[in-house]
Amino acid sequence: MTQRSIETVFRAIPTSDGAGVRLARSLGTPKLPALDPFLMLDEFRSDNPGDYIAGFPSHPHRGFETVTIMLAGSMQHKDSVGNTGDLSAGSVQWMTAGRGIIHSEMPQQVDGLMWGFQLWVNLPAKDKMVEPRYQDIDPSEIPTVDIPEGSVRVLAGTMKDVTGPIGGVATDPILFDVTLEAGASLDLAVPETHNAFLYPFVGAATFGDQRVERGHIVATRRDGDTVTVTASDEGARLLLVAGIPIGEPIARYGPFVMNTEAELVKAFEDYRAGRLA
Ligand code: CO
Repeated sequence: MTQRSIETVFRAIPTSDGAGVRLARSLGTPKLPALDPFLMLDEFRSDNPGDYIAGFPSHPHRGFETVTIMLAGSMQHKDSVGNTGDLSAGSVQWMTAGRGIIHSEMPQQVDGLMWGFQLWVNLPAKDKMVEPRYQDIDPSEIPTVDIPEGSVRVLAGTMKDVTGPIGGVATDPILFDVTLEAGASLDLAVPETHNAFLYPFVGAATFGDQRVERGHIVATRRDGDTVTVTASDEGARLLLVAGIPIGEPIARYGPFVMNTEAELVKAFEDYRAGRLA
């Protein structure tokens, strides 16, 4: 068991996206443009409808995967392939945009707390133009592993022989929602083949000798197979996200992530010509 060292820790940066949804972006910022294969992590959390009510109206994607993790509130997903999904509290949606999809995610509530994450995962060149795929996972389909230190919801990957429902993804992702009791310490196994980051979103946690408050990203180096996390006195809840790096050039603009500028131009042409839907 070798501890991973920490590459960087910083507080997510306030911004907005969609039609004006307020969110905090950590990955996909000047401080950390990407952690291959991950391109973006946004946390949206507000009980002020003005921060989320406009939602994410119809927009395209090509060349990567978008993941929506809901903690509270409810949105409705609709896309050009004909999928409709209820993004309810505790659910996860893994959308492989592939060759192209147009989708919307709109609030199904006019007040109350809306809380969750959007994660972008890159696709290797050989998969950028695959047919779109939508995995809509209800909370009841997500297994929870109870451990003395707390509990782990396994969305993707395997913990103690329990495997999460998200499958068939090129980068072999691990996606855990970890809850730790006050003061509890847990060793999280992450293969050295995977890049990995953590994001405490309740309480605070300590990594090595570094205390990290909620709303900060912790990016690790690929120099060990374990991340040990210790919850603060108030406990902690955090995401562990890991995947196999792709190691290819990235040409990225707005909702399209390709390998070359020429492919980006083609994506815009295809979108304008109605060939993405
Ligand atoms: Co989208």
